[in-house]
Amino acid sequence: MTTIDVVTPVDTSVPTGLGAPVARLEGRDKVTGAARYSYEHTPEGVLYGWIVQSSVTTGTITGSNRDEVLAMPGVRDVITHEQAPHLEDAEDGELLVLQSADVAYRGQPVALVVADTFDTAREAASALAFDYDEGRGDVVLSTDHPSLYAPETVNAGFETDTSQGDVDAAMADSAVTIDETYETAALFNSPMEPHATVATWADGELDVLDSNQGTSGVATTLATLFSLDPSAVRVRAEHVGGGFGSKGSARPVVVLASIGAMLTGRPVKVAYTRQMMFAIAGYRTPTISRVRLAADSEGHLSALSHEAYSHSSTLQEFTEQTAEPTRHLWAAPSRLMTHRLARLDVPTPRWMRAPGEAPGIYAVESAMDELASKLDVDPVELRVRNEPEVDPHTGQPFSSRHLVDCLRRGAELFGWAGRDPRQGVRRVGRWLVGTGVAAATYPASVMPAGARVTALPGGRFEVGVNATDIGQGARTVMAQIAASELGVPLDLVDLHIADSRLPTAGVAGGSSGTASWGWAVTKASRQVTELLAQGQPVPPEGLEVVVDIAEDIAAMSDHSRFAYGAQFVEARVDLDSGEVVVPRMVGVFAAGRIMNARTARSQFVGGMTMGLSMALHEHGMLDPTQGDYGNHDFATYHVASNADVGSIEVEWLDEQDPHLAPMGGKGIGEIGNVGAAAAVANAVAHATGIRVRDLPIQPDKLLAGLPTRY
Ligand code: MOS
Repeated sequence: MTTIDVVTPVDTSVPTGLGAPVARLEGRDKVTGAARYSYEHTPEGVLYGWIVQSSVTTGTITGSNRDEVLAMPGVRDVITHEQAPHLEDAEDGELLVLQSADVAYRGQPVALVVADTFDTAREAASALAFDYDEGRGDVVLSTDHPSLYAPETVNAGFETDTSQGDVDAAMADSAVTIDETYETAALFNSPMEPHATVATWADGELDVLDSNQGTSGVATTLATLFSLDPSAVRVRAEHVGGGFGSKGSARPVVVLASIGAMLTGRPVKVAYTRQMMFAIAGYRTPTISRVRLAADSEGHLSALSHEAYSHSSTLQEFTEQTAEPTRHLWAAPSRLMTHRLARLDVPTPRWMRAPGEAPGIYAVESAMDELASKLDVDPVELRVRNEPEVDPHTGQPFSSRHLVDCLRRGAELFGWAGRDPRQGVRRVGRWLVGTGVAAATYPASVMPAGARVTALPGGRFEVGVNATDIGQGARTVMAQIAASELGVPLDLVDLHIADSRLPTAGVAGGSSGTASWGWAVTKASRQVTELLAQGQPVPPEGLEVVVDIAEDIAAMSDHSRFAYGAQFVEARVDLDSGEVVVPRMVGVFAAGRIMNARTARSQFVGGMTMGLSMALHEHGMLDPTQGDYGNHDFATYHVASNADVGSIEVEWLDEQDPHLAPMGGKGIGEIGNVGAAAAVANAVAHATGIRVRDLPIQPDKLLAGLPTRY
């Protein structure tokens, strides 16, 4: 049975105010089916598109049975590279679909079949066959792959390589060192709602209903691809069933649906199947991290080094920023962080919840645990001893940093005191039992955003902000922010979100959505309130204020801004089978002001569950001869389900930070996912004495090393 205990140290005396556990505003619509996701819209005359994917790893299309398929009853068009319109480069090679006969990876879209019905489209797509001049595939990442190079920057513009002091010298001089390599598997974003689009062209304008994390960016991308004026593109995403980063930018589905609608002159809807998502949604690259630590006998680090390797496709450079978070985490005078990328014949990786942090912090926090064991220092104490006074990478003061408080409070909640540091010595029935801890950190960012607030006659307010609610509760929290700034009850606020016709705003990503959109809503609400206080009359059409926060962001103080957390895990390992179960996780977070206790708790629990899933289950298995991830469905790619999750306790500190956006929050979408996998791996090592350095920790990696039960 699953129990979730929540401690919410938040003032809930104002029932709908900021921080209050307001139930999501669209919750009833969702559970009754009234809330419609993109694919559930069926405009008059809509046709159904089905994507056909390449069946070779690399090669060139030399022919097809297109004419036969086009002649099938109910088929309206079969669009290959020979029929598709020319697309302009929108800085994502993955989006240049159907532009050439060349195949860059197995599963790449090579055609869109458009038909009268869903079933006809699927049937016709399965009948379409291409001839290929087949090439070879180079698909396996290694630390000595000949194509490895240092990209100019890594994801989100971070530095590729940074160095301070002399790591090699510190390694040679120090009492205790760790030099280990940690690997994470390819991980697949698996939102419940697959990527889907309904595209309509009318009078040279493109209107799409699309499942994405930010309509402004998708609209800009479509305008570039199709050489349109930005005002001729409208993108809406009213309800989105999860994204985790894979819907953070336009995906091939929205381009293909737009092409289908353009060529047929009818609205066209296209959705990925679950199986398609494993090739064309974007996924987390496998990573390899070499971590070196050097310390004195008390555990004070003299060197911290993280050399990260990942892959991308030949179509698009995307470098997971695996070593970036390590730069800001622990004090150490000598430091080296590097990133190397191999361009392979694989699908293009993309953002997946806590890109960089999820695999990177797994590696460095596993190494810290190995160091604690070697030194016989308590793992919590080891971290406390290496707490930096300023950001060790930038030298900036922290806007606030309560990592030690998270560790101390987590230890108290979890019952860490008196833990026996010996590994592999506790047995309960057929289980070996262990506990582990890891730190978590994630940047607190803001992105430019606009908002529009209109005071209406009669006391209602209309709020337009291009937020996207991907399930995290953005709709509810934006309404709470507006209502609290305007000083009115929630039900006097009419909210409009997720429409590119609204003032431009950034994605529900980088854990920055609430801070960014919320800042714009706050600013506009304050200006409206001020005008009303000055006695400005409200005309019949309303009193409207439109703002953006670009200047406010530019004027922010010079601080290092991060959210922090501490993850504590109990793991049990079955002596007979090697199976690992996690009966209990405790996460304590410092993320500034928490805007909604209920939706925040869900975010943290979801993030921790995703970390557990990464640690134990999720495993994209590449078949080097096929050049493809062989397990591309939920029968074979296991995502943690209810039965895999025990008790998850979440608490947050009541953190005040004056250096953030005016609401004072740091963003919580990703921090819960960070460190959870390391805490699981550390707990397994404590339980068994076996250190698994390549995730997921599946039974075969433990079984040979386990003692017999009797
Ligand atoms: Mo998240 S990976 O920033 O959408």
